[in-house]
Amino acid sequence: MLEVALSDLSLFLGQFLRRPSEIRSLVPTGRAAAREMARHVRPEMEAVAEIGVGTGTITKAILARGLPPERLELYELNAAFCGRLRELFPGTHVHNLPAQEMVNVGRKDLDAVISCVPTLPLPDEIQSAILGAALKMMKPGAPFVQITYGPLPPLSDAVRARFGLSHQKSRRIWANFPPASIYVFRQLG
Ligand SMILES: C[S@@+](CC[C@H](N)C(=O)[O-])C[C@H]1O[C@@H](n2cnc3c(N)ncnc32)[C@H](O)[C@@H]1O
Repeated sequence: MLEVALSDLSLFLGQFLRRPSEIRSLVPTGRAAAREMARHVRPEMEAVAEIGVGTGTITKAILARGLPPERLELYELNAAFCGRLRELFPGTHVHNLPAQEMVNVGRKDLDAVISCVPTLPLPDEIQSAILGAALKMMKPGAPFVQITYGPLPPLSDAVRARFGLSHQKSRRIWANFPPASIYVFRQLG
């Protein structure tokens, strides 16, 4: 917790108390999990999207990989978080929109999508709307990187089958609260 600025922590907690079903976490992602997600971004990538950005813990880790901010599209539902993201990350493209509306909004031909949208509790139709929109905007075979906290994959069996997704799972990151795993989904050829 101490690794996050106090102002961001209080903004995060305040928004969680107002919208628990959208935010679903008391505190932002920790540094170790953020790094594990950002490791799928390379500085030469042409365009990357992050969805479910919150106060930008993972954004920091993505930019620390050397990706120029102009190549980063940020999609976040919460207007208060978007205001903070615009202050913190000049040059990035902040969209105050649900991720499922990203089609034809920001850059296409994304090399990666990094997601903290809490997908696991969402019904299959919403999981499908998010995945469908992301896949339309991604290059073929690009990674969809998703954090989760439980033992199950963060996309349902039906959604993975519908989109023909394979996945790889990271080691468990115990240093996060709550402990997290990172899944990398790709659409099979
Ligand atoms: C668990 S928080 C993670 C925030 C931040 N990425 C972090 O790691 O600390 C989930 C975030 O996803 C956002 N969110 C939820 N549903 C969304 C959607 N459909 N599209 C975009 N953002 C969404 C919430 O507003 C919240 O900021």
